[in-house]
Amino acid sequence: MSALHEERVLSVHHWTDRLFTFTTTRDPALRFSNGHFTMIGLRVEGKPLLRAYSIVSANYEEHLEFLSIKVPEGPLTSRLQHIKVGDTIIVGRKPTGTLLIDYLLPGRRLYLLSTGTGLAPFMSIIRDPETYEKFEQVVLVHGVRQVDELAYHDVLMEHLPNHEFLGELVTSKLRYYPTVTREQYKNMGRITDLISSGKLCADLGTPPLNAKEDRVMICGSPAMLRDLKRMLEEGGFKEGNTSTPGDFVIERAFAEQ
Ligand code: A2P
Repeated sequence: MSALHEERVLSVHHWTDRLFTFTTTRDPALRFSNGHFTMIGLRVEGKPLLRAYSIVSANYEEHLEFLSIKVPEGPLTSRLQHIKVGDTIIVGRKPTGTLLIDYLLPGRRLYLLSTGTGLAPFMSIIRDPETYEKFEQVVLVHGVRQVDELAYHDVLMEHLPNHEFLGELVTSKLRYYPTVTREQYKNMGRITDLISSGKLCADLGTPPLNAKEDRVMICGSPAMLRDLKRMLEEGGFKEGNTSTPGDFVIERAFAEQ
């Protein structure tokens, strides 16, 4: 069996001139865990051009969904941003990654900290009923530069709380905290600053982040990962991985590339 599979584009939505989402058909044989990423891409001059993308859709859904930035000079995204319904996308058959709730020790609250396209794996994780079985409360933080980069804002604020099966869980357990750094907004500032100043927890009404009760997943730019990792380690949090669960796990947001 080939390691790559061809899927068809079902929908495309452009959030901004820098950010878009698309859905594709899904080979029913493709198995993945919520939070995984896989290689996807296009055939360019006959050869597959692939990059890692976190899967936005949950693993029980019939289609696949991805969130991408558009980089004018990016080898893949300069092309990918022009895809249309009916086009063909290559999807790798071996999803993998460290952002799985299985790689976290038991805890009370789960903090999902993301910037930019780092939101993608968390969209899958917050639609997994198991996430709510394992944690009393789930906090999703999304940091962006501008308000219009708050992808899935309406899904998070309106659709999910009214979802037929997940609505009750989401309404009682999920807190969504969008924050913007370069425009006026109800929440402002970098995630790192919001944590160190205590503002995030004060706004949420939660106790200060602590390794006894809280578990954390982080997905964003290399600088954001480095800073948050340092802050957590200073606070006594231990990093987990695919072989040893910990208090927090990390994955780079696979922006271009
Ligand atoms: P800022 O506007 O202050 O740079 P980007 O689009 O560059 O990936 O940034 C997405 C969001 O991540 C922005 O709000 C940006 O804030 C923020 N950010 C950038 N670097 C860090 C970091 N080291 N720690 C926390 N947030 C960061």
